[in-house]
Amino acid sequence: MVQTGAKPMRDKALSFFGLGYVGLTSAVCFASRGFNVIGFDTDPQKIELINSGKAPFYEPQVEELLREARRRGQLSFTDNPEEAVKGSDTTFITVGTPSNPDGSINLEQVKNASKQIGQALKGKNGYHLVVVRSTVTPGTTENIVKPIIESCSRKKCGESWGLCFSPEFLREGSAVNDTFHPDRIIIGELDRTSGEILEELYRTFYSSEMPKTIRTTPVNAELVKYANNAFLAMKVSFINMIANLCQKLPGADVEVIAEGIGLDKRIGPLFLKAGAGWGGSCFRKDLDALLDFALKNSVELPLVEAALKVNNTQPYRMIELAKGLIGELKGKKVSVLGLAFKPETDDMRDAVSIKIVKRLLEEGARVAVYDPKAMENARKAFGEAVEYAESVEDCLTGSECALIVTEWEEFRKMTPQNFIELMKIPAVVDGRRIYNAESFSPKLRFAAVGLGEKRYYNQH
Ligand code: UDX
Repeated sequence: MVQTGAKPMRDKALSFFGLGYVGLTSAVCFASRGFNVIGFDTDPQKIELINSGKAPFYEPQVEELLREARRRGQLSFTDNPEEAVKGSDTTFITVGTPSNPDGSINLEQVKNASKQIGQALKGKNGYHLVVVRSTVTPGTTENIVKPIIESCSRKKCGESWGLCFSPEFLREGSAVNDTFHPDRIIIGELDRTSGEILEELYRTFYSSEMPKTIRTTPVNAELVKYANNAFLAMKVSFINMIANLCQKLPGADVEVIAEGIGLDKRIGPLFLKAGAGWGGSCFRKDLDALLDFALKNSVELPLVEAALKVNNTQPYRMIELAKGLIGELKGKKVSVLGLAFKPETDDMRDAVSIKIVKRLLEEGARVAVYDPKAMENARKAFGEAVEYAESVEDCLTGSECALIVTEWEEFRKMTPQNFIELMKIPAVVDGRRIYNAESFSPKLRFAAVGLGEKRYYNQH
């Protein structure tokens, strides 16, 4: 049960434009803490689904909070933008900012939302605050969102309406918890009043647990978000690079290296989990957008380029390890365990599993796949090309190699004996370092990302 601290209705009403992971999660979290919330999306089918109490994606706690808030009458949804703006005092823009084919940011949805908000503001009395929460390149809030709203509303920013950029840092799989407990709040304000109103809103939401807050310009706040994601992606790519070195060194183990460097307070232990590479809807899109933006400003970002470069080939390390265990893959049944880009989500956007499955098929393997939540998305990604298993056991039966691609809890529980009993050849490639090599290595053919081929640990 989620501790929401639901209180009587707050005096401020909020609207969220765009009901993806960020918009819907934020909407249900604010509603659960007593705000009146209206969610808007241009997709009527999505609205219908959400209105029936279902989230369009799997994210822990979201449906529970959604149903609870709707039952209390504090959360409604509409596909009418005017209704959403006029029924609220503050509007958050939470639409998607996907990549264009050349990697640059696509701001179409942000522009559309700005137009719709501007048109609705034309006929609205009283002060209204607009908060951009979508990830946008530096300068977008001031140079794109502001002029569109001004021209559509015929009202000057800073007078009857205000504008801020305030990024979110929530991770899929723990989005609700991240919304309730962020490390910090960043407010990029175009004028003092709008910054003050937004800070007050956050104070009401977080109450005695108000996180450290930085108030700054929109351009700084916009860049914080990109720098943050780039740094995290770089950290994972860094440890993956070290993992690839460890793999060539007898006795080396990247887990020990990560622990060793992670204890240095200047480095810290998080985001040093080596594996098959990072995926998801944010890192690649944001790194591409940042590189494109920097290039347009005649600046090179070699560390960001390197983070992408390491990640582009990282998934294929698992194929190399599989070949090391069972030789050529042609004609062999290979089981892929885990398809979502991380556990506790059904999201397969930019998941490393896609690259791995594609390469396995190119190598002529017979591929069986299983994921506790992402099977529906997997069918869209792989069509008829793979076998869809109904359980881990089903996926492993008769298989000659198992690849652990996503670290779901149910895979962690597997013992060497489970693999031995089910598989034709018990060969396991641990792409997420969930198994203890000491207990797996002697019993079956075992390889793991970042683990040196021969370990002389016991000989010390
Ligand atoms: C990320 C950011 O963390 C979040 O702040 C931002 O708002 C959106 O992008 P998300 O993509 O949901 O969130 O998940 P995250 O937990 O960051 O993981 C991203 C990828 O990195 C996953 O594929 C994960 O498996 C991988 N990863 C993460 C590692 O391989 N090793 C790690 O140590 C951490």
